[in-house]
Amino acid sequence: MRIYKVGGAVRDRLLGKPVTDIDWVVVGATTEEMLAKGYRPVGADFPVFLHPKSGEEYALARTERKSGRGYGGFTFHASPEVTLEEDLIRRDLTINAMAEDDQQNLTDPYHGQRDLEARILRHVSPAFAEDPLRVLRVARFAARYCGMGFTVAPETLELMRQLSQSGELQALTAERSWKEISRALMEDQPQVFIEVLRECGALKVLMPEVDALFGVPQPEAHHPEIDTGVHTLSVLEQAALHKQPLTVRWACLLHDLGKGLTPEEEWPRHIAHEHTGLKLIKAVNERFKAPKDCQELALLVGQYHTHGHRALELKPSTLLELLQSFDVYRRPQRFEEFIAACEMDARGRKGLEQRSYPQADYLRGAAIAARSVAVQPLLEKGFKGPELGEAIKRERLKTLKAYKEAASA
Ligand code: CTP
Repeated sequence: MRIYKVGGAVRDRLLGKPVTDIDWVVVGATTEEMLAKGYRPVGADFPVFLHPKSGEEYALARTERKSGRGYGGFTFHASPEVTLEEDLIRRDLTINAMAEDDQQNLTDPYHGQRDLEARILRHVSPAFAEDPLRVLRVARFAARYCGMGFTVAPETLELMRQLSQSGELQALTAERSWKEISRALMEDQPQVFIEVLRECGALKVLMPEVDALFGVPQPEAHHPEIDTGVHTLSVLEQAALHKQPLTVRWACLLHDLGKGLTPEEEWPRHIAHEHTGLKLIKAVNERFKAPKDCQELALLVGQYHTHGHRALELKPSTLLELLQSFDVYRRPQRFEEFIAACEMDARGRKGLEQRSYPQADYLRGAAIAARSVAVQPLLEKGFKGPELGEAIKRERLKTLKAYKEAASA
């Protein structure tokens, strides 16, 4: 039995990047031998084991056949006869298809090191097509490594284009897709993920609602970049620059979907896009089974982002409705994320990236003011049930009126 370090751990060591998880491949072993050595099987029908102590993944060298159930929807052919080269050739990218023994001797039959130096994301072989998730993976690696100068090889982009057209992307499970999407959004340049997906036609399949934003104009006075798709990418870019969490990044990506539905004769205006977009946001949320906090924030940002921008002009009663919609009393953090998404939306405009956003502090102050209304004195006055609710609302409104006056004084 021979054991090699493979995949991301080898790639990232050669790139001089920190290595977090290590994957291992085991050549010349059987399942029985692994079990006898104390490795724990990850599942019943696929040849991946966890090390008894480190918990790292050890996979038997394998060739893969397309259909089936097993690990992520594959059946595997693993046997002690499968060589290291046979295992590596069915991996996604040349830079991920290198192996290293315990002396750090590199096995690199598909020239991963050459591609690392040339900064190219290139598929290893036609076996790339066995797993359509790789279209998303390549886009994610492009987002991660573009800062180092990496680009996708034209022949790989072409293969990704064919896979996108073949209808195979639709067969991906929501869970696998979301894992890639969420990781890609957390990269330093998540907009590159969307750009690469768009370039190979995958965006049209995965998120046609986002794809439809490209070519849709907005008024130049507010949006010097004009194109709604370009704006969306800039908002995402700003969200990453400002180290926003996943919830905010997801909301940024989806905030303007309604603009894709505006009839052309109304361009460049997008009346009520906040409302028309909601069903699209809901559809994308559900398609990828996004976590609840991402879903909720995306819908709220979609519906209320223009309120955020107009915060200083809002009537106290509208301000109160906004705060109530966010349940800011029990969920202050969610309102903070809304403010962040609005700010990213304001900064994601060509030439306006550095513009200040006084709305943010104003909204924060309004939330503090509304939350400062104490319930106890109202209880003491004998209010209860729906009357108590009304009394609290009146007090909050009074407080917000005073807040607005003080702010504009
Ligand atoms: N792999 C693959 N196709 C996939 C998933 C994984 O070929 N759909 C192979 C690649 O060789 C990859 C290795 O399995 O390098 C380990 O996969 P994973 O841990 O998912 O990714 P890493 O490459 O380690 O990258 P990351 O740093 O993003 O975790």
